[in-house]
Amino acid sequence: MSTAAAPASPHVMNCFGRLPVAMARGQGCRVWDTHGKRYLDGIAGIAVNTLGHNHPEFVPALQEQIATLIHCSNYYYVPGQEQLAAKLAALSGMSNVFFCNSGLEANEAALKLARKFGHDKGIARPEIAVYESSFHGRSIATLSATGNAKIQKGFEPLVEGFVRVPRNDIQALEKATAGNPNVAAVLLETIQGEGGIHAMHLDYLRQVRALCDARGWLLMIDEVQCGMGRTGKWFAYQWAGIAPDAVTLAKGLASGVPVGALLAGPQAAQIFQPGDHGSTFGGNPLAMRAGVETIRIMEKDGLLKNAETVGAHLKAALQRELGGLPGVVEVRGHGLMLGIELARPCGVLWERACEAGLLISITAGNTIRLLPALIFTRAEADELVAILAPLVKAFLKE
Ligand SMILES: Cc1ncc(COP(=O)(O)O)c(C=O)c1O
Repeated sequence: MSTAAAPASPHVMNCFGRLPVAMARGQGCRVWDTHGKRYLDGIAGIAVNTLGHNHPEFVPALQEQIATLIHCSNYYYVPGQEQLAAKLAALSGMSNVFFCNSGLEANEAALKLARKFGHDKGIARPEIAVYESSFHGRSIATLSATGNAKIQKGFEPLVEGFVRVPRNDIQALEKATAGNPNVAAVLLETIQGEGGIHAMHLDYLRQVRALCDARGWLLMIDEVQCGMGRTGKWFAYQWAGIAPDAVTLAKGLASGVPVGALLAGPQAAQIFQPGDHGSTFGGNPLAMRAGVETIRIMEKDGLLKNAETVGAHLKAALQRELGGLPGVVEVRGHGLMLGIELARPCGVLWERACEAGLLISITAGNTIRLLPALIFTRAEADELVAILAPLVKAFLKE
């Protein structure tokens, strides 16, 4: 198998480097391709399939919703929005929610919110502090906020109004914003996912919260990848005991049905007024039911605890097998959001793992990323390590 040998899609736009495999069905943490080959799913659709595939309670609930009402429009109240928003508010400590369809849309909404917050305070050209090696999406505004030149290249001119800083360095944030009256907000990922599984330190998060309070800025946290229970708490910022002013979600929120959400706390909840923002599909009854059912099943089945304990088991096993080997920089991450950084680019391992029956991803060029469903078991974690570790060891010897 080789990516070069992959048949070019005649009609689908060529946006993704794909492996020449098509998935046909899934069950739990397994998927089968169109030739019937079985894979262990270590990536869950990039942190999307929270409940795994074909969940026995989730699927019938969606079937019922599809037969009842899929979409109606935001001209009318959508009871599912009220239900999911109330639940998300209770879990996150925020108060109000705007629903959209993806991570970039949630972040786009957050950027608009921060600008409007600035304008409401009399700042004509509001600026937002963002981070090196961050990822916030691929719209023009969110790729401008993203700290990765490769994602921005070819799409200039970028949107203005961002101040970029390194992570985990409060003095750098203070220095980069010193004497700048236009700063209105900070936007950060609690754990940078696409950037290589790099966490903001808990102390740093508290320092940023304090700085935002002192300066009157909004603290906006992108939990599109690390949120929704993946680290063992509903939201990764909760490990630091802080309350942000805005939180963005997508990916795992509806276990595979497209959804995005911008959650806002009291300081930010009333900034948008009718006409300021919107989405045709955002918050439709199908997506809302998927979100409500995802959370219900997560609570009922104790999936936060599972993410924490199985994640710790997986991390320990990876550390035992690979930690300390020459060529392994670090095994890191929290819960079921783990990265194994190697000393050189390792994209080839994506393909080799797939050949060996394991779905993973490689991020930041040199980091193996694991984001399995939150129903992942210890036995599946052991199986993952049994497939992956020999591949990594062989790669290190090349
Ligand atoms: C932290 C983060 N923010 C935003 C996004 C963009 O989400 P989407 O692909 O749904 O637009 C991603 C996607 O990987 C992400 O990891």
